[in-house]
Amino acid sequence: MTIYEAMAERHSVRKYTDRPIEEEKVLLLKTEIEALCAESGLNIELIMNEPKAFSGTLAKYGHFSGCTNYFCISAPDGKDEEIGYFGEKLVLYAQTLGLNTCWVVLTYSKRAVPANLREGEKVQAVIALGYGVHCGKEHRNKPMEALCACEGEMPEWFGKAMEAAMTAPTALNQQAFKFTLVGENKVKAEASGARYAKMDLGIVKYHFELGAGDVKFEWA
Ligand SMILES: Cc1cc2nc3c(=O)[nH]c(=O)nc-3n(C[C@H](O)[C@H](O)[C@H](O)COP(=O)(O)O)c2cc1C
Repeated sequence: MTIYEAMAERHSVRKYTDRPIEEEKVLLLKTEIEALCAESGLNIELIMNEPKAFSGTLAKYGHFSGCTNYFCISAPDGKDEEIGYFGEKLVLYAQTLGLNTCWVVLTYSKRAVPANLREGEKVQAVIALGYGVHCGKEHRNKPMEALCACEGEMPEWFGKAMEAAMTAPTALNQQAFKFTLVGENKVKAEASGARYAKMDLGIVKYHFELGAGDVKFEWA
């Protein structure tokens, strides 16, 4: 599966089967995590066979079941955009390996997560991982006009990038982001003040970059 197919096929999955993740996939995920940690400075861990984070009241309330594997992203406060950007790289990579995921910031037991925290870090988000009972379903989208702005006619590449951005997961499906094309090749990306909107912004920026393909643009 290509990263583009992964973007189209990824949906949040909250119910998992007990099929173990194959050792070769675990190794691939660990290698990817190592590269992403080195690039971002974030502390990303793959936590396996740990049922407690997704078996408490909050997880039940969030309709989670069978989740015993997850990524844990720890960082100091103020790193939400990076967490979203690099975490989504991992989400789409996992999808290319045939695995399902779900970003989670609220409906899990944070205290149960055996994170190896460094000075000043907190667990900021986890991402459920495994073989889903189903593959999830497409989320509802706001109209594209509500999520972007262009002077004049929208260039084809910008439209494709927006379509990719709109497949991205956002907290509570809030889609509290806006991309504005400035001149020919600068794009301003903005998040609303909503909680987790900055984390969402990192996620949607990664999708936007993928959707833009080979077109060279700069973040304004
Ligand atoms: C930053 C972030 C935090 C999220 N936190 C939770 C959560 O605590 N519990 C949950 O069930 N889903 C959570 N989600 C999943 C969203 O509800 C889901 O991505 C959104 O409804 C869009 O659906 P999709 O991922 O299937 O496209 C979160 C998503 C993001 C991006």
